[in-house]
This record gives sequence, C-alpha cells and structure tokens, in this order.
Amino acid sequence: MDYKINFQYLCCVLLFGFLDSILAEKNCNPVRTEFHNRKIGPPDLVPNFAIHDNEIKICFDPLRDPTRLSCCSKASEQQYVIAAKKYLKDSVRSKTAFLKKSILDHISQFEERLSSLILLSENKTSVTLEDLYKIPKSEYSQTVSEFFSQIRLFMKQKQVSLYASVATFYDNIFPSVLKYNLHSGKVLTLTPKQTSCLRKNRQDIVPVPFGKTQYNISHSLQHTLSNVKSYIEVLSLVVEAINLTDNASVTEKCVHQVTQLQFCSRCQNETTVLPCKGLCLNTMRRCLAQFSILHQDWKKLMMSVVRLDGGQSDKYNVEAILQQLSHDIDMSIKHAVRNIAVTYNTAKGLCDISAADTQIPIRTASSELGTQLKHNRNRRTMGGDLNDQVLQVKEQLLISMNIFSTLSEDICEQKLFYDQDPDSNTCWNGTLVGRFTGNIEHLKAFTTSEMDVDPQLITMRDKLSLTRNTLDTEHQEYSMMSDSSIFKYGSGDGGINDGGGIVLETDDEDLNGSGSGSGDGSGQTPSPIDVTLAPTKSFNKPPNRNQRPESSASSVSVSMVMAILTVITTLIL
Ligand SMILES: *[C@@H]1O[C@H](CO)[C@@H](O)[C@H](O)[C@H]1NC(C)=O
Ligand SMILES: *[C@@H]1O[C@H](CO)[C@@H](O)[C@H](O)[C@H]1NC(C)=O
Ligand SMILES: *[C@@H]1O[C@H](CO)[C@@H](O)[C@H](O)[C@H]1NC(C)=O
Ligand SMILES: *[C@@H]1O[C@H](CO)[C@@H](O)[C@H](O)[C@H]1NC(C)=O
Ligand SMILES: *[C@@H]1O[C@H](CO)[C@@H](O)[C@H](O)[C@H]1NC(C)=O
Ligand SMILES: *[C@@H]1O[C@H](CO)[C@@H](O)[C@H](O)[C@H]1NC(C)=O
Ligand SMILES: *[C@@H]1O[C@H](CO)[C@@H](O)[C@H](O)[C@H]1NC(C)=O
Repeated sequence: MDYKINFQYLCCVLLFGFLDSILAEKNCNPVRTEFHNRKIGPPDLVPNFAIHDNEIKICFDPLRDPTRLSCCSKASEQQYVIAAKKYLKDSVRSKTAFLKKSILDHISQFEERLSSLILLSENKTSVTLEDLYKIPKSEYSQTVSEFFSQIRLFMKQKQVSLYASVATFYDNIFPSVLKYNLHSGKVLTLTPKQTSCLRKNRQDIVPVPFGKTQYNISHSLQHTLSNVKSYIEVLSLVVEAINLTDNASVTEKCVHQVTQLQFCSRCQNETTVLPCKGLCLNTMRRCLAQFSILHQDWKKLMMSVVRLDGGQSDKYNVEAILQQLSHDIDMSIKHAVRNIAVTYNTAKGLCDISAADTQIPIRTASSELGTQLKHNRNRRTMGGDLNDQVLQVKEQLLISMNIFSTLSEDICEQKLFYDQDPDSNTCWNGTLVGRFTGNIEHLKAFTTSEMDVDPQLITMRDKLSLTRNTLDTEHQEYSMMSDSSIFKYGSGDGGINDGGGIVLETDDEDLNGSGSGSGDGSGQTPSPIDVTLAPTKSFNKPPNRNQRPESSASSVSVSMVMAILTVITTLIL
C-alpha cells in the first residue's frame, strides 16, 4: 500500500515537473514584455526561453557558470547597457533640471523687462525733448537713439563707458536746447560750425549748463547696470555648469555597474524586484564621484550670488532708475533753460554767435515749460515683478548649494525605485535577490586620482572659483565705498541685523576649501560672510496681477527664510 502510494506520488511529481519545464517554467515573457514596454530594444532580442549565452559579459560570467540559464542574450545585454547609460544621464539631469529651467526663464524675463524699460525710457525722452523743449525730431532722434544704443551695448559688452555716453548725449543735445529755448522766445539759427563748436565746448562752460543731475544719471546708470550685468553673467555661468554636468562623459566601467544595478536582475527573470539601496549608493557614488569636485566651488559661488543685488537695492534699483531716466533728463534740461541767459552769453563768446542769428519764432517755445509730462514714477506699472523673481531664484540657488555632493543620495533615496530597508532580503543585490552585504562606500573615500574625471569638469571648477573670487573682490570694493550698503561683509555680529535681514554665517569648513583637491588658492582668511537677503520695498506693494498664485511677496519672504534656515542647518551639520 505504502509503496504504491509513494510510487503514484512520485509519478505525479515527475510528470508535472516535466510538463512545467516544457510549457511554462523557462519562458522569459515578463522580461520580453518589459523590454518592449520600456523601449529598451526590439523584444525579439530577448530569448523566448531561458538560454545559456556564452558571450554574456556584464551580468555574470558564463564561462565560470557553464550550465547557467538566463533570460539575457548578448544582444539584449547590449541594449541594457545603452538603457543604463541613458538612465544615469536622466537621473543626473532630473536633479538639476528645475534649477536650470528657473534660471533660464528668469534670465529671459529679466532681459525682456530691461529692454522694454529701455525702450519706454527712450520713447519718453523723445517725447520730453519734443513736447517740452520744442526740439524737432530731426534734431534729437539720432542723439537719443545713440544714447540708448550705448545702454543696450553696455548690457552686452563691458567696453562701453556710460559716463562718456551720458556726456556725449548732453554735448549733442546742447545746441538744440539753446536754439529752441531762449527766453526771448526766438529760435536761434546756428551754422554747422557753430553747432559743432557748442558741442565741443559744452563741458567747459561754467556754470555747467545742465547742472549736477547729469552726474547722478551717469553714476546710477553705471552702477546699477553693472550690478545687473554681473548678476546675469553669474546666472549664465551657473546654467553653463549645469549644461556641462548634464553632458559630462561617464566611463564604460560606470555604465556597466549601472547595468548591473538596474538590469541584470532581468537575466534571472526578475522584472519587478527593486535594487537594494546599498547597491545603488555604491554604484552611484562611484559613478558620480567626479561631480563632487565641483561641490566646494559651486557652494561658495552660490553664497556669493545670493549677495549680489541684481539691481534690486533700494538706492540702485534698475527698474526705478530706468523709469526715472527721462524725468532726470527733463530736470537737467529744465535747469539749463532756467539759466539759459548766462549760458548763452558764455556760448556766444566761445562760438562766435551774434545777436543777428536769432529769428522770430515760429511757435512759442517756453510757454509750456511750467507744465510737465506725466512721468510715471511708480516702480512696477508694467507687470512682471523682478524683485520677487530675483528672490525666488536666490532661494533656488541656496537650496541647490549641495547639489553636487548629494547627487547619489538623492537618486538612491527614491522609495519608488530602490528598496530603502538596509536589512531587506527581497531586493536585488547585484547577484541575486537577497540581502546586500557589501560595505557602503562613502563619497569622501574617493580621492581625485581614483576618479575618472571629465576634464571639462575641472575647467568648470576653476571657472566657478575664478568667478567667485572676482565677485567677492568687487563686492568688497563696493562695500568699502558704499555708505549704507545693505550687505555687510565680515561684520561678524551674527543673528538678525538692523536691516531686518538674516545673517548667514558660514562655518570654517566651507571656507577652508579642504575639499578633494579643490586647490582654489584664494588664500582668504575664513571670516564669516553675512548674507543679507535684503527685504526691499516690494513687501509693501499691492499684489501684482502677473504673479504666479503662490508667489506673493510675503510667501516669498517666508519661504526664503525657511530656505535660509535649511541652509544654516545644513551648514552646521
Ligand atoms: C519567468 O516568470 C514568469 C512569471 O512569473 C514565469 O511564468 C516563467 O516561468 C519564468 N521563467 C523562468 C525562466 O523562470
Ligand atoms: C512713443 O510711444 C507712443 C505710444 O506707444 C507712440 O505713439 C509714439 O510714436 C512714440 N514716440 C516716439 C518718439 O517713439
Ligand atoms: C544726486 O545724488 C545725490 C546723492 O545721491 C543727491 O543727494 C542729490 O539730490 C542728487 N542730485 C540731483 C540733482 O538729482
Ligand atoms: C544650456 O543649454 C540650454 C539647452 O538645454 C541652452 O538653451 C542654453 O543656451 C545653454 N546655456 C549655456 C550657457 O550653455
Ligand atoms: C550635450 O551634447 C550634445 C552633443 O554632444 C549636444 O547636442 C547638446 O546640445 C548638449 N546639451 C547641452 C545641454 O549642452
Ligand atoms: C548577494 O547575496 C548573495 C547571497 O546571499 C551573497 O552571496 C552576495 O555576496 C550578495 N552580494 C552582495 C553584493 O551583497
Ligand atoms: C581650517 O583651516 C585652519 C588653518 O588651515 C585650521 O586651523 C582649521 O582647523 C580648519 N578648519 C576646518 C573646519 O577644517
């Protein structure tokens, strides 16, 4: 009896086992389906049934394991390598994409706003000259357009001196102001020679025909636009650095490791298992170690960028100054007209102008002088709020300060893609589904010589460091000559300063530059840097229609403060 039953049982087991292995057990359908769905490659590269391919290179050693069957072929493995490379790049990009997009959008909105303000200012200046000072378009249009072209050029290249441009503007407009604004109400006729004589001598006439306003104009233009320019330049460098890391080359070895991490489980017909976090950390840290060489200089640069005012300070606000420009020009010409008798007397002698040169006026020149064009002095009439944008971008930059030292952690901490439990024995450990038993390596353990660093990254690191040194030098110079600078440098009083801003002290470690072979050579003493994100006027302004819903001024300030606190915490830890 017993014997019989056992025999039947054995029979069944053998039979079912046999059928199983023929019909189902060895098919690689899940692997094929995934191969197709995730567009890893054409699904027929995946074997129908588990096979032994002697040319497998990465997932296991087919020669050491000559009977091993798997759902991988040489061809499908190669597709996995391509997919792994893409996965790695996409992972890095996804960490920087938001910052990059924010900055690129910001730069283009900033530039758009500036060019529309410049255009508006050009228009208002023209209207002022024509309507208030009766200068015909034919006489002012070239002068005005040259002046504003210089401003636009300045924003593009460093060589333009705005002091010279402003002086030239007044030189050129001087004869016309004289011609049409004499108190006699008569229009002066000037020969070309007299005209050019007046232009040439304008700066030597005392008292100065246009008063002191012109010096204020050149100073504030030069100062503010320089600040805007260096702000935009640094942001562009930040984007350039991101572009470079997006595209940095990775070694073949690294791509093979990512293949093992992400895809070799497929050879064992495992398509749903998550890789162990430990395996991910080891793989990513080794692969992405090269980016960590940017970390120190990137971080320092971010600290410097948030100190830039970007033309948003109260005294040198770029929007206010451009909106005020035509008004200031108006004031200076008004000054000239008020003193025109004195100026005319001097000019007559200098340039051989006789009384006979005046004619009966065609229209009354000075009758409207008392009236003024409506000069819109409201800072934000045109929508788009630069100051909020600048604060938001600075917030983004602060948040991204450690981006290049935490890339691997950021990638491996995604619960959806990696098994976070360090003791899990149901994750992919690189060889099979089981516990990851390897040592988790730390980023600091890698020295520069062990890394395969894309040489472009080294160039970029040096560029970041150079730019940051330049900014800090400029900043120090500015602080020295600036009376009520919003930014204090090295005052070391800590805490909340009188401006109501938050003082951010960096710890020594950040300034020692002790990072892996960073060699910044700046040789600066590690003094505390106070970063004050100045709460500027905009906090009192009415809500702006063009704002994104969540970005009201107060929410910006709150999230800003949160960001800074986060940063401080990060620095201390
Ligand atoms: C792969 O998994 C599927 C579904 O779990 C199963 O039907 C098939 O037999 C497995 N193939 C191998 C080779 O293990
Ligand atoms: C200034 O702008 C107004 C309205 O946009 C336009 O009508 C006028 O022609 C412009 N004037 C000059 C001098 O560009
Ligand atoms: C020029 O600027 C100074 C200092 O900013 C200011 O006190 C003065 O009133 C300004 N002068 C004119 C004419 O705008
Ligand atoms: C960076 O790349 C973007 C495209 O992703 C491009 O629009 C931008 O001009 C590039 N910027 C720099 C500074 O290379
Ligand atoms: C990355 O490099 C490729 C070619 O090497 C180029 O086409 C692409 O525009 C670059 N991307 C960025 C963001 O620079
Ligand atoms: C994966 O698990 C197997 C079996 O437990 C073990 O032999 C192997 O060392 C593990 N690999 C790693 C990298 O932990
Ligand atoms: C920074 O450098 C100084 C002098 O080189 C050293 O005394 C100090 O311990 C360093 N601090 C840190 C945090 O590395």
